[in-house]
Amino acid sequence: MFTDESACNTYNYGDSVYWDARYIHEASAGSFDWYQRYHALRPFLRKYVPTSSRILMVGCGNAVMSEDMVKDGYEDIMNVDISCVAIEMMRRKYEHVPQLKYLQMDVRDMGFFLDDSFDSVIDKGTLDSLMCGTDAPISASQMLGEVSRLLKPGGTYMLITYGDPTVRMPHINRPVYNWKIDLYIIPRPGFQKPPGSTSSPKSHLSPVRTTDKGMLPADYVLEDPDSHYIYVCTKMGESSDPSDPRLIFDQ
Ligand SMILES: C[S@@+](CC[C@H](N)C(=O)[O-])C[C@H]1O[C@@H](n2cnc3c(N)ncnc32)[C@H](O)[C@@H]1O
Repeated sequence: MFTDESACNTYNYGDSVYWDARYIHEASAGSFDWYQRYHALRPFLRKYVPTSSRILMVGCGNAVMSEDMVKDGYEDIMNVDISCVAIEMMRRKYEHVPQLKYLQMDVRDMGFFLDDSFDSVIDKGTLDSLMCGTDAPISASQMLGEVSRLLKPGGTYMLITYGDPTVRMPHINRPVYNWKIDLYIIPRPGFQKPPGSTSSPKSHLSPVRTTDKGMLPADYVLEDPDSHYIYVCTKMGESSDPSDPRLIFDQ
């Protein structure tokens, strides 16, 4: 699912009614992480998001990503989701974990939080959901405007998505946000190269070289056609320094 915008029509991923019903239906299953689990994303998080960061997880759902981050040393994660069913379940599950907080909220209006409240905003599949809803471009711009407002200068918005640069860059690469964007591409969990494949192995830990417009070069070959994309958007401002020595992979 979610392979391109046309695939959205089957379900209304932009609708809280859809998500509430889904979380009620799947309550006995416990948890589900879309796209990737924390261990695969860890190198990117540890590179760009210090463990002492104040983090906002937008559209947390019932994923264990935040729990795994706390087990790995993260100290302060505010989780929000439009689904009151998911939020109630998660609040109960983690009531004894002080590093995790849960609030029901629409990411298109996060006025509850003051400007510059977070060092990092993490989004795994939530912008994707809005892109499947009605008025998708308006919803995306409302959400990203809120993300930009809530990020401290120098802070990072990490977007983990199925959307390649042709469908995501027009929304995130806007002068109004002034984000410096690094792109990484990782294969789906469990992806194996077809037997006999001659393509040279790619390091997923290196940012992908993009064109001036943020697109993939014409000769770029995806190892996995259904890869996931990680856009690391750094809010430029007085205190941001792209040569920051902290920006080193810690594996
Ligand atoms: C594809 S799921 C991803 C869940 C989780 N981040 C993960 O990685 O497993 C998208 C999540 O976004 C939430 N969502 C959709 N629209 C939203 C909105 N306008 N505001 C807040 N959350 C929203 C849904 O309830 C759902 O939990």
